[in-house]
Amino acid sequence: MTKKKIAIITGASSGFGVEFAKQIDQQIDLDEIWLIARRKEKLESTSKMLKNSQGIVIKADLSTSEGITNIKTLLEKDKPEVKVLINNAGFGRTEKFEDSDEEYNESMIDVNVKAPVMITKIVLSYMYKGGHIINVASSAAYAPLPYFSVYAATKAFILSFSYSLKEELKLRNISVTAVCPGPASTEFFKSLKEKKVNGLNIKDPIKIVRKAVRDSLKRRSVSIYGYEMNFLRVVSKLLPRKMLAYFSGKVKLPQ
Ligand SMILES: NC(=O)c1ccc[n+]([C@@H]2O[C@H](COP(=O)([O-])OP(=O)(O)OC[C@H]3O[C@@H](n4cnc5c(N)ncnc54)[C@H](OP(=O)(O)O)[C@@H]3O)[C@@H](O)[C@H]2O)c1
Repeated sequence: MTKKKIAIITGASSGFGVEFAKQIDQQIDLDEIWLIARRKEKLESTSKMLKNSQGIVIKADLSTSEGITNIKTLLEKDKPEVKVLINNAGFGRTEKFEDSDEEYNESMIDVNVKAPVMITKIVLSYMYKGGHIINVASSAAYAPLPYFSVYAATKAFILSFSYSLKEELKLRNISVTAVCPGPASTEFFKSLKEKKVNGLNIKDPIKIVRKAVRDSLKRRSVSIYGYEMNFLRVVSKLLPRKMLAYFSGKVKLPQ
């Protein structure tokens, strides 16, 4: 019996996740797209947007080990071929670290770092030659960001992890792409009234995801959309981290 071909998208209830689901559905031949997040109704509306593959709604809180085990159990039961894994779920907010909430920080590290690591490890047993892993990092991964310190560090982890994994998986012909968006108009910035964040234009998630899917299919290591973000990437490679932290600390981040 042939295995069904699936994609798994975490954080598929809003923002980039919804867009990934729509674009993967159009561009890759799949039987099912597994849509994972906490808000079931939102996942159901993402599922209804799919035209070619069947959406499978999986309600899971990725800050908990039950949430991760849930995915493992479903994979063990179905034994599909995972063609695409998109580790996208994540969150963060700007605040002074001293004043930050312990539970919030722990949950952020669990969702932004622990979940992608655990899920990737589980999924690799169901991924074959030609598979794609897309890890949503951020332009915050490039430099230390005072007042966004934990979030930036989680994204730096994802960028580093993605580069290492890409090298390790070369022999299996599985691609790994880290997506590094700047500010985009998703729920992440829902309370923001301005059109810019620190002088950076807030970008359309559709375009960021289009570029990410294209870069993944081209098996690129990193996907960066827009000249501003490419410029930041170059600057971050040229300046010492101490200087990057100093200048970032002077910038007013959105609340
Ligand atoms: N928007 C930006 O400017 C920007 C820039 C750079 C990077 N990013 C990254 O892009 C990714 C997607 O964010 P977005 O911009 O699309 O924001 P978003 O619209 O807020 O989406 C975040 C997604 O993560 C899911 N999520 C959060 N906590 C979760 C949990 N405990 N368990 C399961 N799912 C959880 C949310 O689903 P539920 O609430 O339904 O669980 C939602 O689907 C994140 O990794 C973010 O760090 C965003």
